[in-house]
Amino acid sequence: MSENTVSIRHLKEHADQVVHLKGWLNGKRRSGKIGFLQIRDGSGTVQAVASRAELSEQAWEDVKAVTQESTVHVSGTVKVDERAPGGVELHVTDFGVDDLCGEFPITPKEHGTAFLMEHRHLWLRSSRQRAALAVRNEVCQGIRDFFYEREFTLIDSPILTPAACEGTSTLFETDYFGDPAFLSQSGQLYLEPAISAFGKVYCFGPTFRAEKSKTRRHLTEFWMVEPEVAFLEFGGLCDLAEEFIQTLVGRVLERCSEHLEVLERDIAQLEKSTHPFPRITYTKAVELLKEKGQSIEWGEDLGGEDETVLAEHFDQPVLISHFPAAIKAFYMEPDADDPKLALGLDIIAPEGYGEIIGGSQRIHDHDFLLERIKEHDLPLEAFKWYLDVRKYGTCPHSGFGMGVERFVAWMTGVKHLRETIPYPRMLYKIYP
Ligand code: 4AD
Ligand code: MG
Repeated sequence: MSENTVSIRHLKEHADQVVHLKGWLNGKRRSGKIGFLQIRDGSGTVQAVASRAELSEQAWEDVKAVTQESTVHVSGTVKVDERAPGGVELHVTDFGVDDLCGEFPITPKEHGTAFLMEHRHLWLRSSRQRAALAVRNEVCQGIRDFFYEREFTLIDSPILTPAACEGTSTLFETDYFGDPAFLSQSGQLYLEPAISAFGKVYCFGPTFRAEKSKTRRHLTEFWMVEPEVAFLEFGGLCDLAEEFIQTLVGRVLERCSEHLEVLERDIAQLEKSTHPFPRITYTKAVELLKEKGQSIEWGEDLGGEDETVLAEHFDQPVLISHFPAAIKAFYMEPDADDPKLALGLDIIAPEGYGEIIGGSQRIHDHDFLLERIKEHDLPLEAFKWYLDVRKYGTCPHSGFGMGVERFVAWMTGVKHLRETIPYPRMLYKIYP
């Protein structure tokens, strides 16, 4: 970059100076001998005012010819103007087109979702998409900071695995040199051994589920962050999960106001989520749902509709615990007072965004876990190493997983998870 090349985000720091920018034409308006160019460089967008009288003939020709999404360079004086978006404008002294763009498929007019999804690689440039992915970036950084500040160690779990973690129905199978292997559904089983090495650990990466459900809340590839903590029991786990969500919401409110404005997000909804969350048991949740006319019976899993009804009732994230063990994963610790129940928790986001966190205390007794693995008909051979964790210095421990896209969808207010990840993978959709 040449000396005075600055990014649009930092233009304000260069008031009355001449600067150079490189970027793309976001839009253009011309009125006689003045051109108003919206220039985007990735860090922001600025209006550049080009006046024929102040430009060379070539530069003015380029102003006239430039099309949306052309690659451009521009020089100009930074003028502070509080009325302008970002508080500055650029008075152009030189302008040139580096790559004249043919008709760009995505225009300010309305496009159908199928069309936009086919052009996801170009759709990324749109202001709402950029805002949503910028919030995602802040959330991901917030996740890493949260755990780093609390002295957790990052343990990257493998993506190619020999066995299932969250049930066999949603596994993507692949060939591993002649043997079957599966894309990871959760890093949890690989985190548990690491607590004996590091105490507090987390993993953060893509996870895969061959979900046949075509809903706005399901992706087949999504990012999950999972902490796991030695000697942490169920009460402490609930507190950790709540503090985690509150911290992330607070961070988004503090640092993403510009993006939330682009997305027209109702901030008041998010502010409520920095107060303590209501906590109810599964049994209580079922009672409440029945009162509200839902058809659920005790023992059944909560459906998407049930989650929405609960979230509406509390108008805040709600923590549900003590589920029937029969509907939860094999590794969950039973409640000592009522072993029919599992020490599992779900956090349901408000406004219909559904379950954002699932977690539990884990069974730490070797023989009991062995019994559960057999009851669930899981291949013993594949879980030998997992049982070792209980064989050599076991301890009570707990953890949870949060789906990043569900959380970002809630923060941004976008209805469908597909707009919270750069390249969504969904049922029958893998292009581009
Ligand atoms: O509740 P789940 O299945 O929990 C686990 O995988 C545990 N092993 C986590 C743990 O205890 N370490 O998934 C956790 C979260 C859900 O609450 C949801 O936010 C997200 O992962 N999730 C999905 N997000 C997008 N698309 C899907 N198909 C998802 N399935 C789960
Ligand atoms: Mg779950």
